[in-house]
Amino acid sequence: MQQTTESMPQPKAATRSRSLEGHVTVPGDKSISHRALLFGALATGGTKINGLLEAEDVLNTAHAIEAMGARVEKSNDQWIVMGRGVGGLAEPKAPLDFGNSGTGVRLMMGVLAGHSFGAELIGDASLSRRPMGRVLNPLIETGLEVTPHGQKTLPLTVRGAAAPLPIRYELPVPSAQVKSAVLLAGLHAPGVTTVVEREPTRDHTERMLRYFGAELSVTQNGDATEISINGEAELTGQPVDVPADPSSAAFLVAAAVITEGSDITVENVLLNPTRIGFYLTLKEMGADISFENERLAGGEPVGDIRARSSKLTGVEVPAARAPSMIDEYPVLACVAACASGVTTMLGLAELKVKESDRLAATSAGLTSNGIANVVDGDTLTVTGCGPEGRPPGGGFVETHLDHRIAMAFLTLGLATDNPVTVDDTRVIATSFPTFMDLMSGLGANLNGQPIAPSVTSSGGNGI
Ligand code: S3P
Repeated sequence: MQQTTESMPQPKAATRSRSLEGHVTVPGDKSISHRALLFGALATGGTKINGLLEAEDVLNTAHAIEAMGARVEKSNDQWIVMGRGVGGLAEPKAPLDFGNSGTGVRLMMGVLAGHSFGAELIGDASLSRRPMGRVLNPLIETGLEVTPHGQKTLPLTVRGAAAPLPIRYELPVPSAQVKSAVLLAGLHAPGVTTVVEREPTRDHTERMLRYFGAELSVTQNGDATEISINGEAELTGQPVDVPADPSSAAFLVAAAVITEGSDITVENVLLNPTRIGFYLTLKEMGADISFENERLAGGEPVGDIRARSSKLTGVEVPAARAPSMIDEYPVLACVAACASGVTTMLGLAELKVKESDRLAATSAGLTSNGIANVVDGDTLTVTGCGPEGRPPGGGFVETHLDHRIAMAFLTLGLATDNPVTVDDTRVIATSFPTFMDLMSGLGANLNGQPIAPSVTSSGGNGI
């Protein structure tokens, strides 16, 4: 098929920039936005959402609930979902397309486990490669049928049970998506569904389900957390204010920290303890960042993050911290490239099954920009070029349809000797459509001359 101009890849190059300055607000949290729409669809009455992330991933979830009979409207800046009640969604007439979004499709699988109709689930090339067995396996225990039988990647069709079984499930991987899918199935099941997790993962599902009226208990049993939900619950629509996404703010904060003379503030950012591992790590590296104006909003801790340029030192990031910063490793690796000494990141197995194999993509991006790094099993080690030197840059980074790889390496290019080119920036729209504008507004130069892929490999000499 012939490509239109709009569907052509859009390479961009980031160039060493002078100080970044200003106060900005990044778009709403992606995890909370998906949940607000989904739980709104399962509630009775209206759910009014302020600050919803209007990015492709979340809009695909909105389209999916609409296709199953929930009414979704936008009035001024507020989104309103008129729900159908728990178990009340209708059979979709066409395949549900989740684009690039693992969260959207996996949480929806949990919802569909409580609906006895067939729904075909599809996604883009990246999503179609990602493992769905981790969610389907426990849902099959509740009675979900999957066709083709044994299929573990999209496209596939699911059909929930009329009365799904309540189960007790210990998470084999630390994944909030799997935890959420099982709890959502449990919402529809008679009796108590329990998820056991050994490593804490983001807890937005637990917080928001309670806020919508579900009976949910969280108990500590040795080193395990047991989350139990009473099934056949009634949810009632609630107002939701979505705070800014700490995973999006991470790129701006990283940019300020590695760019000389910078001083920025990112406002109203979600500071839930299960999401701020990146910021803790930056502080351990010596970054001049602070949380200001901390408060509770809509049941979640939020605050402003002030970040100034800093002299950084490499650290060891423990594996136990991985779930609280899982989406931030690519940008942390780019920050580590600007630090002095070695940064060692342990326990990165889950990075291999994100929108791309992020461990491989991050390592390749660093290498193409002349930055020494080693992948050894689930560990990434990056040797920084600081404190006096800068990373060479000059590389061509393949993003593999991964928004966070694109944004991480554009951020790196603000502090390298030579521009850093990323092969395609269109995918940034899946999570952070205003990234280029916000960064440029702070003073970042993202309009360098992209280099061609053939000049890549060694880095540092591509221009
Ligand atoms: C998410 C959970 C994480 C994260 C993703 C959003 C969520 O995935 O990487 O971007 O909203 O539940 P896993 O739960 O698979 O680790």
